[in-house]
Amino acid sequence: MSKKDNSIHEFDFKLICEYYSSIERQGPGSPEITAKALSFIDTLNNESRIADIGCGTGGQTMVLANLTSGSIIGIDLFADFIDIFKDNCRKRNLQDRVEGVVGSMDHLAFQKEELDLIWSEGAIYNIGFERGINEWREFLKTGGFIAVSEASWFTENRPDEIDRFWKDEYPGIDIISNKVGQMQKAGYIPISTFVLPENCWTEHFYAPQVYAQDKFLKKYAGDKTAEELVKNQRHEAELYNKYKEYYGYVFYIGKKI
Ligand SMILES: C[S@@+](CC[C@H](N)C(=O)[O-])C[C@H]1O[C@@H](n2cnc3c(N)ncnc32)[C@H](O)[C@@H]1O
Repeated sequence: MSKKDNSIHEFDFKLICEYYSSIERQGPGSPEITAKALSFIDTLNNESRIADIGCGTGGQTMVLANLTSGSIIGIDLFADFIDIFKDNCRKRNLQDRVEGVVGSMDHLAFQKEELDLIWSEGAIYNIGFERGINEWREFLKTGGFIAVSEASWFTENRPDEIDRFWKDEYPGIDIISNKVGQMQKAGYIPISTFVLPENCWTEHFYAPQVYAQDKFLKKYAGDKTAEELVKNQRHEAELYNKYKEYYGYVFYIGKKI
């Protein structure tokens, strides 16, 4: 879900949520990559408290739940996503240790040093990477981990078209070494940084949307918001295909010092 989508009028939120609810993930990622990022975190046990911030409908949360034994709280701004998240938990019989809550990442209701792990895939951009890692740090125990995926530049320079697109979408996009520097400065040891493979965008994010878009356009034929939403998503997919050597998502994993 892009920043632009978030700025669309309140009235259209239902439509946007319906669009994204029809796909398993609301951002680039995959079960394999969630598992890979988790493999760098070696301190978890069945007492651990994990928060998945900007969890959406819970695509990655369900993977985390299968690979960990502690409790997980998924937080998202949109109630419709949390409803689906809760259904996903019930279907998998995870409701005793995985909870979905409506809330905003800029106003989290955790106690200081309550969490062992903060997870966030493709969502921290909503308040900005640097602000997010700084503000969320107080909720982590010393020695606790943060793992977030974030749009990042692969090169110092890139073509104007893609530079303008991203500066408009997310001015906080930056090169990987600057993000790692921000993590160090915020009080984390940078533990690992890796680029998400292309299939996290193509197979797991854009391909499922092709079918969803056709269905959506048929259902809302003539609706300007629906048409605009699909047009934007298609444009974003085309840009990815054209400029993927210049940017992508990167997982940043840090340990609170
Ligand atoms: C790109 S989606 C990623 C969702 C999910 N983590 C995934 O990878 O499939 C970004 C998510 O952030 C949520 N979001 C946006 N602003 C938020 C806020 N202020 N607080 C919490 N969640 C927010 C959106 O509702 C959306 O589910």
